[in-house]
Amino acid sequence: MNSINASTRPSAPPEIPRREALAALGIGAFVAAGAAIAQPSTQPTPPATNPTRPKDLPAKGPPTAIVPGNLAPAELHVFDEATGLFVLPALPYAFDAMEPYIDAKTMEIHHDKHHAGYVAGLNKSLAELARIRSAAGDSGLVKFWANQVSFHGGGHINHSLFWNMMAPPGKGGGGSPRGALAEAINKTFGSYEQFVAQFKATAGSVEGGGWGWLAVEPWSKQLLLFQGEKQQDLMVTGALPVLGIDVWEHAYYLKYQNKRAEYVGAFFSLINWEFCGKLYDRAIAR
Ligand SMILES: [Fe+2]
Repeated sequence: MNSINASTRPSAPPEIPRREALAALGIGAFVAAGAAIAQPSTQPTPPATNPTRPKDLPAKGPPTAIVPGNLAPAELHVFDEATGLFVLPALPYAFDAMEPYIDAKTMEIHHDKHHAGYVAGLNKSLAELARIRSAAGDSGLVKFWANQVSFHGGGHINHSLFWNMMAPPGKGGGGSPRGALAEAINKTFGSYEQFVAQFKATAGSVEGGGWGWLAVEPWSKQLLLFQGEKQQDLMVTGALPVLGIDVWEHAYYLKYQNKRAEYVGAFFSLINWEFCGKLYDRAIAR
C-alpha cells in the first residue's frame, strides 16, 4: 500500500549500507513488522540534518486519503529499502482531521517537525556509527550515538504507530474495542471501564515526556499497561504495542496547556480500535 509512502529523505548522511544500519539498530525485523516499543522524556533537538517538509507532500494533509484502520501493521512505511534510510511516513489523514480534540497546528508541527526530527536523528546516528566502524569517526562516541539510536529510533517508530492508532472522530476514531482485543481487555482489567480508568491514570502520570502503552508480552500473550519515558525508557523488552498515547507536551500543549488529563480523556474519541485490534491479533499470533 503506497498511500502512506510519502517520505522524507534526510539530507545526505554518509552512506549507510542498509544491512549495517539495521544491524546497528538491532530492530530491523521489528521495524519491518511494524511492531515497536518506545518511551519518553526530553524534547528532541532537531539535528542539523533535520529535513524540511518532503517535497512530494502537499502543503496540508496527506497526498491521498486512506480508509482509517485499513492499514495492515506490516505496511507502515518507516524504512526505504532502496536507500537504506528510515523515512517519514505521511499522516493517513489531514492535519485538521482530529479537530476539535487535537488542533491542526499541533498535528502539523508534531508530524512535520518532531517526527521528522526523530527520523533525521536516527539516520544521522546510524551514519555516525558507520563512520566510526570505518575509522573515520570518533570511536569515543559510540556510547553517545548508540544512545541516540535508541532515542530517535524509539521516537520514529512510536510516532509511526501513533498516527495510525488514531482516526477522525466518528469516522473510525472513538467507540470501543471489538473482537479478541475487547475480550482480552475485559479479562485482564475486569471491564473496559476499568481499563480506561487505568490507562488514563497511567498516561496522565508519566514523568516528563513519554507515553502510555497497552502492549502484548509475546511469550505469555498477556496484555500489559505501562509507562514509557522519553521515547525508549521503561519499555518491556519484546512487548508489542497495541495502543499508545504520546504525552509529551508537544502533543497537546497548544490546546490543553498544562491540562494533560483533558488531552488523555479526549484521546478516547480518536482511538482507531480497528487498527489496534489488528496489532493485537498480530501480536498474539506470533
Ligand atoms: Fe511526539
